[in-house]
Formats: sequence, C-alpha cells, structure tokens
Amino acid sequence: MTLIQSSRIQNAALAAKVVTAEEAITHIQPGDTLGLSGFTGSGYPKAVPLALAAHMEAEHAKGNPFRVRVWTGASTGPELDGALAKADGIEFRLPYNSDPIAREKINSGRMNYFDMHLSQVAPMAWQGFLGDLDVAVVEVSGIRPDGALIPSSSVGNNKTWLDRAKRVILEVNSWQNPALEGMHDIYYGTALPPHRKPIPLIHPDDRIGESTFRCDPDKIIAIVETAAPDRNLPFAAPDANAKAIAAHLLDFLEHEVRVGRMPPSLLPLQSGVGNVANAVLTGLLNSPFEDMTSYTEVIQDGMIDLLDAGKLRMASATAFSLSPEAAARLNTNMARYRDRMILRPQEISNHPELIRRLGCIAMNGLIEADIYGNVNSTHVMGSRIQNGIGGSGDFARNAYVSIFLTPSTAKGGAISAIVPQVAHVDHITQDVQVIITEQGLADLRGLAPRQRSKLIIENCAHPDFRPALRDYVARAEKDSYGGHAPGLPREALSWHQRFIDTGSMRF
Ligand code: COA
Repeated sequence: MTLIQSSRIQNAALAAKVVTAEEAITHIQPGDTLGLSGFTGSGYPKAVPLALAAHMEAEHAKGNPFRVRVWTGASTGPELDGALAKADGIEFRLPYNSDPIAREKINSGRMNYFDMHLSQVAPMAWQGFLGDLDVAVVEVSGIRPDGALIPSSSVGNNKTWLDRAKRVILEVNSWQNPALEGMHDIYYGTALPPHRKPIPLIHPDDRIGESTFRCDPDKIIAIVETAAPDRNLPFAAPDANAKAIAAHLLDFLEHEVRVGRMPPSLLPLQSGVGNVANAVLTGLLNSPFEDMTSYTEVIQDGMIDLLDAGKLRMASATAFSLSPEAAARLNTNMARYRDRMILRPQEISNHPELIRRLGCIAMNGLIEADIYGNVNSTHVMGSRIQNGIGGSGDFARNAYVSIFLTPSTAKGGAISAIVPQVAHVDHITQDVQVIITEQGLADLRGLAPRQRSKLIIENCAHPDFRPALRDYVARAEKDSYGGHAPGLPREALSWHQRFIDTGSMRF
C-alpha cells in the first residue's frame, strides 16, 4: 500500500506518524481490546480493520489464533464487523450490531455479544469492569494545527475511547466532508458518581461542549489516511403497511396537540432505526406540524427531507445513517445543513436525564409485543438475536411518550407480531405507552393489563390471528393462577414453538 498525504493533517508532528494500515496493525496483539469508532454505518475505520482481518486470516491459516475484543459505538460496516467476523477474529463484542456475518457468529455461539443500552457504554467503560482498553482505532475527518481531532460522520463513544485507550490509531478519511467541522458538540463534563453534575442542556439545539476531540499526542502511535465512503445503504420505499402505520401515528400526534398535551410544533422527535422508522419520518412531511425539532440517535433520510422542507428546525443526534443519495445531498450542501444539525457523544444523545427533561417523543420498531404491552425488540423466537436493543431502552423508558411501531405480521404473514407472551422482554409494559401496527393504534396509557389485552388484540393484531388471541385471553381470564395479568404458562410460548416446529404460527 502506498502512502497518501492529504492536507487534512495540519499538525506537523502528527503528520510524521502517517503509516500504511499494514504497519498500523503491528500495534495490535491477539487478545487486545479495541475501541473502534462507528455508529450505524458511519464514521467507522475502514482500512485498519480490513488489514487486521487479512492478517488474522493468514495467522489462522498457520494455526495461530488471533482474536480481539471489539467495542464500538453501535453497528459499523462490512469493512469492520463484516471483515473481522468473517476472519473469525472477534472474541467478544459490544454494543449494537446489525452486520449479518457477525449476527451468524453470535447466533452460532462463536462470538460473545454484550447487548447493552447505548447510553451506558461510555459510563461502564469508565467504571472499569469491562477491562482495559488497549487500542482505540478512530476515524476523524481531519487534524487541526493544534492537534485537536475533527470528528467524522459519527461521534459515538470516540471521546471515551480516545481518553481510555493506552494507544491510539487514527484514520483520517478525506472522503468525509471538511465542512463537517463545527457540527459536533463534544461534552467533557461527565463524571462518575459521586462527582456527577447536571448536564446543562435545556433545548435540543443547545451546544454545551467543544467542536473537536482532545487526545494526548503521545498516545497516537499511527495515522492511516483513507478516502473511503461510509456504508450508506438505501432505505426501502415505504410500502402500504408503513404508510398505514405513519397515518395512525399522525392521527395520534394531531389528537395530542388538539387536547393540549403537546405543542403544535410537537416535542423533540426520536426516531428509531429501520425502514418503518424512516417511513414515519416521510409521513411527517405531509403533516400539519411546523418548526419541529429532533433529539435522537441517528439522522436518517427522512430527517434530511424534513429539514429540506422547512418542517424540521434542527436535528441533534450522534451519527448519520443515510442512503447513498441522501449522503450525496448532505455532502453537496454540508455548510448549509451544519447550522441545523448537531452530532454529540452517544452518552449525551441518549442520556436519560436529557431525554426526560426534553420530553422526547420516542418512536421505535419491535420484533413482537404481547397482549399486555411487553415488547421484544431483539430476539426472534426468544433466542436468535436480530440486532440489539440499541438506544430503544434509553428513549422508551425516559420519553414523554413511548411509541412502538410494527407491521402486525412478519415473514409473509407466518408470524404474528402480537403474541400471548413475548419470548424475550426488552421493554416492560410500563415503558410501552402506544403500540401501532397497520391495523391501528392502542393507547395503553393509564390502562390495567386486562384492559390492555382487549385493546391490543382488537386494534393492533392482524385479523387472521385475532380469534386465537381472543380465545387465549378468554381461557386465561377463566383459568389463570392470578387474575391481574391472566396467563397460561404452558401455552403462552406455544405460538413460538409452533413456528419453530412448522415454520408458521398459524393454526
Ligand atoms: N419474528 C421474526 N422475524 C421478525 C419479526 C418477528 N416477529 N419481526 C421482524 N422480523 C424480522 C423481519 O422479517 C426482518 O427480517 P429480514 O431482514 O430477514 O427480512 C427483520 O426482522 C427486520 O424487520 P423489518 O420489518 O424490516 O423492520 P425494521 O427494519 O423496522 O426493524 C427491528 C425492526 C426491531 C429489527 C429494529 O427496529 C431494531 O433493530 N430495533 C432495536 C433497536 C432500536 O430500536 N434502535 C433504535 C433506538 S434509537
């Protein structure tokens, strides 16, 4: 590999540390813990993990095990999680993952995965029980003359990795737009108890930190230059189900404004990951709401559309998660968007204190919900991880109103998203206030379990599965051990077992 030297490194001492990715990985040893940048497919290192994966494969061919522990912000890209997982090089990983190869390794028991709330990663790394952090590998978009690091298209846990790591490898990616400089807000005021202070963020557009990362230059052992795009996957065009879900959501929000529970500009929006979440944002384009704000985790295509249409005043997040088309649009007009977007560390974008103070409207997807409103966001049939809890728990528990959105069936109608009992619980019934499917909406606020079950079945379940759910509830209400949340333990997970046995939950 030949060295390229771009103008992005403006500090002479650091410019002298530029090496190839192959040279940089000589600082990584088997068993090391790596703190890597990257959040939902943006701002992850692209060259060092690829070189490391190739080296691991060569070592494995010689019979030498080479595996590392990987900490990231959230999901990354095929050059990182995909390549390292394919090389069988990840011993342990945290947090959120959406890479299909890594998912297979986790579900085959080959990779340990600690799926944790995204707001808790940095504080837990500081608490120390996760162990030492050997090497940080962080993508930045440039280095200023004073050595300060200009963040890339995601912030994630980079501040913490740069602070905690014994050694630091930087990737300076000249594909990233130089006009990103100034968009970030890196807050250095967090601490561990008993030294914590209130975080001084009152409005979603408040800036409370610095625009760059600090890093001890002596720790920087290698710098690799790249010019490579982020993952940037296209979103599916909203289908009929997604449009129906968005329409129910808009009705609900309009109702909340009408009865005075929300202002006409709504409250700061949090929108989850995935196609349905993006479709909901698209739905807001045609809503009556103006001057909206967003305090969320990722900026998706739908938010760029809302900004362009003048409906959204500003968006605060920790990363971008864009289609190639939206990324190109953003990059062409970065200087214009920069004043209306803020990227923060994920411990701030997802901080319970701030989500509660701002009164966010949380909107997240789910795998399945049960008749009492418990939600499974992560485990198909209770044991197979899909992605992870991500920030959904941070937002669902602390939001002003917590909404979950899903089609009423999955896998071509073979699976009901509304089941007698979820096979895994991520969000307990107290954290789930509204459930929306294409069938309708269940507003569960203030309802007891026996009231919730009727509403969820009649408003949200697919008509094909309603009779069986009604029958279950009727028998449970008659024969249950207790009458508060009636259930039949022997039968409660039989829908999942039927799918495992026959490929369908249908009777
Ligand atoms: N049983 C089995 N599989 C199911 C399922 C169910 N009840 N519900 C969904 N799935 C599968 C879908 O079939 C699809 O699989 P495929 O990729 O093989 O086609 C996959 O899960 C994604 O579902 P999709 O309907 O495309 O929805 P989505 O893109 O909106 O994602 C979640 C839904 C739950 C997977 C996603 O929202 C998620 O990972 N959530 C957890 C993290 C989170 O909420 N983060 C946001 C916080 S800011």
